[in-house]
Amino acid sequence: MVIDEGLRQVLQRANRVVVLTGAGISAESGVPTFREAQDGLWDQYDPEDVATPEAFQRNPRRVWAWYAHRRQLAQEVEPNAGHWALVEWSRALSWLQVVTQNVDGLHQRAGSEHVIELHGNIHRDRVFDGPLAAEVDDAELPRCPETGAVLRPDVVWFGEQLPEGAMEQAVAAVRSADLMLSVGTSAVVQPAASLPLEALEREIPVVEINAEPTPLTPVASWHFLGSAGELVPTLVRSAASG
Ligand code: OAD
Repeated sequence: MVIDEGLRQVLQRANRVVVLTGAGISAESGVPTFREAQDGLWDQYDPEDVATPEAFQRNPRRVWAWYAHRRQLAQEVEPNAGHWALVEWSRALSWLQVVTQNVDGLHQRAGSEHVIELHGNIHRDRVFDGPLAAEVDDAELPRCPETGAVLRPDVVWFGEQLPEGAMEQAVAAVRSADLMLSVGTSAVVQPAASLPLEALEREIPVVEINAEPTPLTPVASWHFLGSAGELVPTLVRSAASG
């Protein structure tokens, strides 16, 4: 990773940093990403079967089986050097805000505080507020102990709104930052993908770290191709070596 003089200065002067993360930052922990050519979750599963409200209506058991498996995996893995480096950096800055599309909770387990979770959290449940299809056998589905309502994972599915206020908080964070990082995201899923563009529009520099080029790459102020577990710590070390 070659950090030019311009970036070195930006890193050393930065005091308010916002970091948008995606599945790539958890890849080295062993959590599968979504869109990679091989092993991406959307290569092996159709989102229409496991990640829409309609899929849950038709077959809640199948959806729960998929999430129970992913939940268990997320519990078994550990945060990696990319997650840790952001925690370390946050201690050296007046303010560092993580905005994540990940539902695995690894930023929090590494020690990041006040993480904005755009797509929810796989470790939480909430009430499913739609009807189930008439033919569904709803015995043995997870239920709210108080009301008996059927529960679903508290994540955002295709076609659903983001958690209330999450995007507004993320936009406010971007607008008040003096540097933004985009790490391990294919930068195609809206509205998250609009956040680095919002920063650039306001002339806030954006550094992208990703294993492969994305639609953000050509417009990012700086971009680095490679692994988050290696490049995020290198960037943080460079910021600290003032
Ligand atoms: P994607 O799977 O779309 O993209 C992950 C990106 O991380 C890819 O561009 C990889 O090249 C890159 N990558 C993989 N390993 C990496 C590593 N070790 N270091 C750095 N980069 C690496 O995941 P997201 O962009 O997070 O939403 O996907 C966004 C949303 O799409 C997800 O939150 C999920 C999905 O549909 C919902 O489920 C609502």
